[in-house]
Amino acid sequence: MGPRFTLLSVAVTAAVLLSACSAPATSKPASASTLTFNPPSIDSASNDENGKAIQLGYKLMTETKQLLPNNVGNDLSCSSCHADAGTVKNELNLVGIAAVYPQFRTREHAVSTLEDRVNQCFERSMNGKTIPYDSTEMRAFMMYLSYISKGIPDGTNPPWRGLAKFDVSNPNLQDGEKIFQQSCATCHGANGQGGYGPALWGPNSFNDGAGMANLSNMAAFVKESMPKAPMGGVNPGDLTQAQARDVSAWVLSHPRPHFLGPGKGSTPPKSQ
Ligand code: HEC
Ligand code: HEC
Repeated sequence: MGPRFTLLSVAVTAAVLLSACSAPATSKPASASTLTFNPPSIDSASNDENGKAIQLGYKLMTETKQLLPNNVGNDLSCSSCHADAGTVKNELNLVGIAAVYPQFRTREHAVSTLEDRVNQCFERSMNGKTIPYDSTEMRAFMMYLSYISKGIPDGTNPPWRGLAKFDVSNPNLQDGEKIFQQSCATCHGANGQGGYGPALWGPNSFNDGAGMANLSNMAAFVKESMPKAPMGGVNPGDLTQAQARDVSAWVLSHPRPHFLGPGKGSTPPKSQ
């Protein structure tokens, strides 16, 4: 019995009771286009046992390394990419994600549960190790992700899900380096080591098996979300697709930890 069931159990019970003594409901499920992006604030989580699990899940999203030092092999938190614990619309938000999973994933050729997906980010994006499926922490992740998916009907693919990808062929690394020095280095460090913003390459960044290590993913993320604040004359969202492609290709031309495969951990990069 998953946490989503726990959250929805009141509604489900009510629906069962209703249908037991009246005609079956005929209303259509909400269509994806009528949904609004409006995740509940973490401050409105209750103080009971479920609310505490939700709050722990939020903390795990934002302080991942501090809370799970043995499972995180770099300096990132989930919020390094899923900004504000997955509640910022244009920064890999996770709103509605509990309604999407389980689903079929082509990369693994298998049905993937939300727990599997979280653990894939642990092994790849966090360059670390999976957390046990029956742990307090995994339950807290599920409770939190269900909480920010409130109101999104099961099986819906929210319209705000996923990255807006574009053609990234033939990047120009020299142009990318210029953009990096001008609009990224102040926050991410001249050597990509991180500072105000998280590490973009080197031992403290995500490994080469991560979604963000894929040029079309990073370029789409950077186009929508970076620079995080106006920097070097560039406002957030102002980079062209070509500029986002070039600067992302420059970032990805540097060494990063190597993904050895599921369950195998990872190695630090060979050179800086
Ligand atoms: C280095 C960046 C990065 C970090 C750090 C990261 N993720 Fe992800 N995550 C991604 C990318 C990229 C995707 C794929 C998005 C896509 O395909 O549109 C993703 C996908 C996901 C998905 C599935 C989303 C979907 O639409 O199917 C979940 C759930 C998720 N991450 C949870 C987490 C959790 C929990 C953590 C922390 C333990 C984490 N991620 C850390 C980059 C990251
Ligand atoms: C004002 C500071 C700032 C600037 C400038 C900035 N970033 Fe970021 N960046 C952040 C922060 C903070 C995050 C963490 C996510 C969040 O909170 O939005 C982030 C996250 C990222 C991530 C995902 C996390 C990771 O470690 O890979 C990438 C990729 C990224 N930035 C690339 C860039 C690029 C490329 C530029 C230049 C075009 C840039 N950023 C400019 C602050 C900045």
